[in-house]
Order: sequence, then structure tokens, then C-alpha cells
Amino acid sequence: MVVPTDHALHEGLQVSPLILSDDVRRQKIENHLAKMRFSAATARKIQDVFISEMNKGIHQQPSSLQMENTYIPELLDGTEGGLFLALDLGGTNFRVLLLELANGAPIRQEVKRYYIGPELRVGSAVPLFDYLAKCVSDFVIAQGLQDVELPLGFTFSFPTIQHSLDVGVLVTWTKTFNCSDAVNKDVVLLLHEALDRRGDTKVKVVAILNDTTGTLVQGSTLDSDTAVGLILGTGSNACYLENADRVEHWEPERHGERQVIIDIEWGAFGDNGVLDFIKTDFDRENDANSLIVNSFTFEKYIGGKYLGEVVRVILARLTKEGLLFVGENTSQNLLTPGTLTTDLVSHIEQDSVDGGDTNTKEILAKFGIIPDQDDIKVVQYVCEVVSNRAALLVSICLASLLDRIDREQVTIAVDGSLYKHHPRLENWMKQYISLLTPGRKFKLIHAEDGSGKGAALVAAIAQRIKKRLE
Ligand code: BGC
Repeated sequence: MVVPTDHALHEGLQVSPLILSDDVRRQKIENHLAKMRFSAATARKIQDVFISEMNKGIHQQPSSLQMENTYIPELLDGTEGGLFLALDLGGTNFRVLLLELANGAPIRQEVKRYYIGPELRVGSAVPLFDYLAKCVSDFVIAQGLQDVELPLGFTFSFPTIQHSLDVGVLVTWTKTFNCSDAVNKDVVLLLHEALDRRGDTKVKVVAILNDTTGTLVQGSTLDSDTAVGLILGTGSNACYLENADRVEHWEPERHGERQVIIDIEWGAFGDNGVLDFIKTDFDRENDANSLIVNSFTFEKYIGGKYLGEVVRVILARLTKEGLLFVGENTSQNLLTPGTLTTDLVSHIEQDSVDGGDTNTKEILAKFGIIPDQDDIKVVQYVCEVVSNRAALLVSICLASLLDRIDREQVTIAVDGSLYKHHPRLENWMKQYISLLTPGRKFKLIHAEDGSGKGAALVAAIAQRIKKRLE
């Protein structure tokens, strides 16, 4: 492995300079954001902490990284066939999907999206799971498959403790969900109970998984070097193929597994205080405005649910201090939590890529603000610093994973709305990963719909393994 030179890393971490007509104003704004722009030494420190937390997590010692065993020990082998269902709960969309496989490859796919209203997202568990079961049975009946035994892969993109491939106990809700009475319960059982209450289909949940796992498995059908699954969407997380002998938490009997997918659950990285050295007042305010405070520290630096809010908090502070939008009426909207969503940050970032200001002006107009040229530069600068910090943090973790996996070539399968829509994340990530772990060969591929298709593929793998062991 090439020894990284932190000089190159230092150079690579520079963002575009902020150039304003008033230099004092520029200096004050840069000071406010200085802590969000990491030096090479800070990047290395974060990396050391991440590696140490991974090691502790895998050895079952206290750690903010769960390093959960998914009990998925192999990928597709090309023999899988038949009909498989998937349920995808956790991100922007809730979906039911039917996949028909022949020789391990999809030959037909049917998908239906369903809306889950806010009252179901934050109510009690029974109505939520009854609704999920209703959607499953509506879908299955519409396909005329109510009398067919259908194995289902349940993508449940929240942290769970997995006792086996089809038992997952919810640790905490994240993102936009908070049905607190489901915490500490096996969500597969909750779904089965809801399906049984209806009794109108023959669906059997054979695997519970995370969207990152689905993405890894889906990615492996596109590129056989895939060993990491990454989600950069509403939330963020990654999983990877680990050497099975390194994994201590293994409840069911082992059957000679050589590898297994580990769900890192990096959204919670830093919940135990190990990352406090990068926390800014803006992050504290973002946390205070979130659905579940004091949790999912890392996700609040990088997830699509939060980037817009971090930008908003900064813009509001600069405005209050008379450094931005002087003379403009910003009393409502911009000062209200949740008004600036991450897709708007992506649009403003697109202006920075194009060297323009059309999107920035349009977005600010919706907030009732008519910016001057310097205001535009400041807004674009803030979006860049916040987005760039997210890209660097994700890259630090990915570089550490590549070192841990230590293969000649690794492909990282990525999905998620933030990754898809942000115009700069992918390029920054490629650049930073190379700087953090020079000489490693890696590829980022977009594994579209890993959380849906991947779940049906995992159901197929689970069925195959089950049959072999019978
Ligand atoms: C969840 C993870 C999930 C990630 C991406 C996080 O909030 O805890 O399980 O993989 O979001 O959806």
C-alpha cells in the first residue's frame, strides 16, 4: 500500500475561496465556518476514531458502530429462480415489489409505491404494520398470487439487532419515523402478525435486511467486485463483506461461512461522544431541531434529511449577525426550521458547478429574498462547505473500509436520493478516497433500487441457503 502524504490530502481538501467586496465580512463568515473545513490532521483523526469504533463494534465492545451481522453469507450463485416479494420501508418511498428470477437474474419486475402519511410515521406500531400488510395483500391480490407461497425480503432501513436472517429487533427509529412502541420488538414478527390478522395471502418473510445490504447484493449483479453497499439518501449507512472469522456476534449455528455482510450502522457514529471534536454550534442546533435528539450524530452531518437544515441554520445565524441579506425581510421562512430542504442545496450547488446563479436566485426568491451579488456568493459558499464536509466524512469511512477489506479491486455500490441528485458528491468522493488511501483500486457504481430489487434477491439467496440446510 502507498503511504498517504498528507500534503496531497491537505491540498485536496481546499474548497473554492470566498471572494467578497467587503474583506472584513468575508473574514467573519469564514471564521464562522472554519470548524466545518477539516485539515488533513482532523481528517486522519476522524479516520482513526472510525477504525477504532469499527474494531470495538465487531468485537462486541461498547462502540457507536453496531457492526451488525446480517447473516447473509453469500451472494447470488446463478441458480436462483421463482417469484420473490420485497417490501421496502425506510427512505423517501415505501414500495412493494415482485421479482421473477431465472438462473439468478431478474426476468420480470412489478413495483407499486405507496404513500405513508405523517400520522402513521410517528403513531403507534400496530396501525403502521397493519398498513404495510394491507399494501402487501393489495399488491399480491392484484397480481393474482394470493394462493401462492411467496417468500418476502423485508428491507427495513433502521438499526436492528439481528438474531438471525429473519429476526430483527428495532434499536431506534431514525429519519422521519418514530413509532416508539415498536422499539425493542422484532419487526418481522410485527409484520407477520399484521399479515396474519388479514389472513388473505401466503406471504412469508424469509429475510430482514437493510437498504445498504440490498444495494450491495444488487450491485454484485452489476459488478462482481462489489464488496460495499452505501446509501446516501434521507439517511446514510454502509455495509461490507467481512471475513466471517472476524465476526464475534453469530447466534445461529455456523455452517462454514467464509464471509458475511456486516451492516455498520454508521449513522450513529459519534453518539458516544467520540466525534465531539468536529461538532459545531450549527450541528447542535440541527440536532435540537430533529425528530430524535442526541442520536444519529453522523447521519446529521451527511444525510439528506439534514444537510438543508444545517445550511439553513448557518444562513439564519449569518443573517442575524448582519453578515447576510442586509435590509432584506427574512423574518419568516428562512428562520423557521425545516424550510430549506436538501434538494435545494443540490440546486444551489449546481449553480456553483455551472458558474451561474439562476437556481440560487430562484430559491431565495421563494423565501422572499432578493439577494445582492455578495449574498449569492455567501449562500453558494455555505452550501459548498456543508456538502463538501459530508463528502469528506463519507470518504473517510469508505477509505477505511477499503483498507479493511484489503482486496485488489473493490466496487462500492451506491444508491440514495442525495447521491443521485447532488451534482458534486460523487466527484469529491472519488477524489478524497484516492487521497486518503492512495493506490487502492476502487469504483463507485450506482446500484439503482438496491433497497427494492436487492431485497427480493436476498429473499432468493435466503431460500436457497435454507433448502441446502434442510
Ligand atoms: C438507518 C440505516 C439505513 C440508513 C439509510 C439510517 O437512518 O439507521 O439502517 O441504512 O438510514 O437509509
